[in-house]
Amino acid sequence: MNRHAFKYFDAPQRTATREFVIRAYKPGDGAALTAAVDASYEHLKRFMHWAKPHQPLEESEKRVREFAGNFVACSEFTLGVWTPDEKRIIGGTGYHLRDGPLPLMNAEIGMWIAGDLAGQGLGTRVLRELLRWGFTDWPWLRLSWWCHGSNAASRRVAEKAGMKLEGVLREHRHDVNGARQDSCVYAMLKSEWK
Ligand SMILES: CC(C)(COP(=O)(O)OP(=O)(O)OC[C@H]1O[C@@H](n2cnc3c(N)ncnc32)[C@H](O)[C@@H]1OP(=O)(O)O)[C@@H](O)C(=O)NCCC(=O)NCCS
Repeated sequence: MNRHAFKYFDAPQRTATREFVIRAYKPGDGAALTAAVDASYEHLKRFMHWAKPHQPLEESEKRVREFAGNFVACSEFTLGVWTPDEKRIIGGTGYHLRDGPLPLMNAEIGMWIAGDLAGQGLGTRVLRELLRWGFTDWPWLRLSWWCHGSNAASRRVAEKAGMKLEGVLREHRHDVNGARQDSCVYAMLKSEWK
């Protein structure tokens, strides 16, 4: 694929396991997103800057439409994690272009899991599926995972999925309270994925 063509490609829209579906957002997904993030506010507020006690439906619908547009434009690949019947959002994830432009074939995986399902291995299984999907149907050559040093669950998920800790950037970012926090950078290369 030449570099110009690679600026735009038909990104895969969906993958499924017996436990969950991971797919691109569509217009109309706003209600499911509001229900998911409202129910998980207490769980999300410690590490997710965007979390707030109530996310109005109109705002969620705007966001899912922006997610869908960015996906088509190949500027950001935000994905929802759904129950197999696609009635409930149980997490959010995506391949984010925060680690260089698209032709470099690097993406950063982000993730949150619904509060009532956290700590049961779901985040690890979703991350493993994103690594598998990302290195097979997607063109990624490097997938990274960035988290605050104090986010023990996030660090553990990256380790369990087989990503390597590449470094700790000291006092690199602000946490939700504005305090400076270390960032841990994990990554897996396509050549390492089995
Ligand atoms: C981080 C997150 C995605 C992980 O998903 P999950 O489904 O809860 O993760 P899993 O159940 O697969 O694994 C969690 C691991 O962290 C461990 N863990 C959880 N909380 C911990 C804590 N406070 N201290 C130490 N370990 C902890 C669990 O014991 C488990 O490890 P184990 O299997 O070795 O026992 C999820 O908890 C989440 O949504 N957190 C809030 C949003 C967030 O922080 N996102 C990540 C941003 S980088």
